[in-house]
Amino acid sequence: MDSFFKDLRSEFPILSRKIYGKDLVYLDNGATTQKPRRVVEKIENGYYYSNANIHRGVHYLSQRATEAHEAARERVGRFINADSASEIIFTRGTTESINLVAFSFGEAFCKEGDEIVVSVMEHHSNIVPWQMLCERKKMSLKVIPMNDRGEILLDEYKALLNPKVRLVAITHVSNVIGTINPVKEMIALAHAAGIKVLVDGAQSVPHIRLDVKAIDADFLAFSGHKIYGPTGIGVLYGKAELLNQIPPYQGGGEMIDQVHFEKTTYNVLPYKFEAGTPDFIGSIALSEALDFVDEIGIERIEAYEKSLLEYATMELMKIDGMRIIGTAADKSAVLSFLLGNIHPFDVGTLLDHLGIAVRIGHHCAQPLIERLGIDGTVRASFALYNTFEEVDVLVKALKRIQTMF
Ligand code: ALA
Repeated sequence: MDSFFKDLRSEFPILSRKIYGKDLVYLDNGATTQKPRRVVEKIENGYYYSNANIHRGVHYLSQRATEAHEAARERVGRFINADSASEIIFTRGTTESINLVAFSFGEAFCKEGDEIVVSVMEHHSNIVPWQMLCERKKMSLKVIPMNDRGEILLDEYKALLNPKVRLVAITHVSNVIGTINPVKEMIALAHAAGIKVLVDGAQSVPHIRLDVKAIDADFLAFSGHKIYGPTGIGVLYGKAELLNQIPPYQGGGEMIDQVHFEKTTYNVLPYKFEAGTPDFIGSIALSEALDFVDEIGIERIEAYEKSLLEYATMELMKIDGMRIIGTAADKSAVLSFLLGNIHPFDVGTLLDHLGIAVRIGHHCAQPLIERLGIDGTVRASFALYNTFEEVDVLVKALKRIQTMF
């Protein structure tokens, strides 16, 4: 299995770069993934040979670009098993998708005294938009706690599901500790209490199978750039019946039906939520990235990344003073750790000088870091092109750093 994934590395030119004279070991995939040649070529060819604004032109180029953008929408819908392409809204990324729901769902369904439930392990992008909604509408934000391993406390979650709760917003996979949350079970519990659920899939959609119908998610947000696609394009999936009940997020061209100074009416789904010229080159390149992933098979990717995580965890644990942060039973390929008392910034900087790219700090999840009682972590996050040899390079580098302190 290793050689299959190793062979794929040649599709990613950046992986053969040297950093400070060392082979690049790129372990910051939770932040963004590298792009295979075919995705970059889609972007390049799009601008060189197919560029024309969509949904507006009678001319050939505009019509072909429109078809390609709408085909990309269908592609995304198939990838997450949506009922219809009209349930796929293109956004700039997970953050914009969540902000859209916080605003539009908030306008339609929330009022003073209501509650939103999030977990303690959310990224800031799945906290702050809800805080803004709560401030606007005089509502409260409630937090699902976790145990010291980084697992959601389901009994405490159930106790939070009261009639004042309008929505649960939960990450599928923690970007810091890798926990895979039992979203299917959590959604069923919320639905039994008449509550809608938004799933933040930023860290899960690129790594594990996410079928919106199987888990019955009301909303799902994810980003293109974390799944080998371009930056600046992301997805909001929403059940059509819900999207039809909530108002537009932004006003402008494309999202309208009729505009008169007396009254404006809005377009149908999904265009109601896509004001302005969308990133149609981005959507087409994202579709190419999904083809790339599907041709390999997400289950195969998941199994490989899991074996990398297990190997890395086992090898890191052999290092004296190593502390793995986040030891949930069900984890995705994200490995946060602390090396003795060495500050994560020092570890990250020294690793960088050895050609190894990791992320350090609070990872945009300050409440989680506070809950863990630490200042931050060093995080290695894996993707399908990482290798067991790279894990060995990381371990060797960490041992070397340790001897410096
Ligand atoms: N959310 C991204 C990360 O976890 C940027 O690094």
